[in-house]
Amino acid sequence: MTEPGTVLITGPTRNLGRHAVLAMADRPDGQRPDLLLVGRAGRDLTAVADEARALGARVHEIGCDLASLAEVRAAAATAHGLLADGAVRPLRALVANAGTMSADTRRVSADGYELTFAVNHLAHAQLIGDLLISFTAPARVVLVGSNTYHANFWRKLLHVAEAEWTDPVELARPAGGERTPGMEASGIAYSNAKLAILYYAHELQRQAGPGINVSVFEPGWMPGTALGRGAPPAFQAMSRALGRIPGVSTPQRSGPLLAAMALDKRWAHLRDGAFVVKTKLTEAQPVAHDRGRERRLWEATAELLERAGASPTPDTKI
Ligand SMILES: NC(=O)c1ccc[n+]([C@@H]2O[C@H](COP(=O)([O-])OP(=O)(O)OC[C@H]3O[C@@H](n4cnc5c(N)ncnc54)[C@H](OP(=O)(O)O)[C@@H]3O)[C@@H](O)[C@H]2O)c1
Repeated sequence: MTEPGTVLITGPTRNLGRHAVLAMADRPDGQRPDLLLVGRAGRDLTAVADEARALGARVHEIGCDLASLAEVRAAAATAHGLLADGAVRPLRALVANAGTMSADTRRVSADGYELTFAVNHLAHAQLIGDLLISFTAPARVVLVGSNTYHANFWRKLLHVAEAEWTDPVELARPAGGERTPGMEASGIAYSNAKLAILYYAHELQRQAGPGINVSVFEPGWMPGTALGRGAPPAFQAMSRALGRIPGVSTPQRSGPLLAAMALDKRWAHLRDGAFVVKTKLTEAQPVAHDRGRERRLWEATAELLERAGASPTPDTKI
């Protein structure tokens, strides 16, 4: 078995990410990775880092607001420095877990991009691009997607709109004018960002070379997490009520499944943006496979990152 090395994870402070961190830290000696926790600096980040340390893991907290590409670049530089200095073992996995669904699509990141697209997609594209040179093969990139990208049962029940794809430069543009009432615009932005993650995963695999395996994990619906924190109270109450239906998941259940995507031999073969729903390797819908959109997303992402002051993703294969 490949030694577990180091796993970098975003969004470790609560729910899915936090339970994935604890599941990794709770592995037996010899199977427990070093952990780089990339999250907003503060009490929650320190608390999960301390919990993971108490379980025996070597942990570094890297404070970073993913809504600022300058902070993302600084976080990547910190991680690169820790790896280069040997402060942690070789980087074997990056788990792009952090996510948000902004209730107001006029909200922008520090770089002026629509917040949901910026945090879910652009920040991770920046982080992964900056760290491509830092992986040691065989390595894994696990992106966290969502079935909301297409018209699935839960999405319909919750009235979360499905993706309405358009050019990525447009997806990065915040809405103008008055706020649209309801959750439709917010749902479309979230579903677009999650469709972008699937497209990006497919293109990343083509760009990253043979040493890195790219997959996408969908944790199952976990009602009541902080993802819908900006939603109207009625939406949140409905989500909590539906959460009692058997078959929905929880961060406690899905966190260890996400940890398994980063570490388990069972998933070592996953490549090409293979899509796993909880424990099941699943064929993504035809809409999630589109070479033209994937190539355009790659180019537009480089353009958007460059416009925000970053150098484009290096062409580095391992
Ligand atoms: N909940 C579901 O039903 C569901 C279903 C499918 C997929 N997912 C996906 O699963 C992942 C985790 O979701 P969750 O339900 O656990 O959500 P959550 O409770 O809202 O947790 C999201 C995590 O992302 C972090 N994050 C958000 N914005 C950030 C920013 N600007 N800078 C740094 N960190 C930021 C949060 O940090 P803070 O603690 O600082 O806010 C938190 O750690 C997301 O990618 C989500 O899209 C969720």
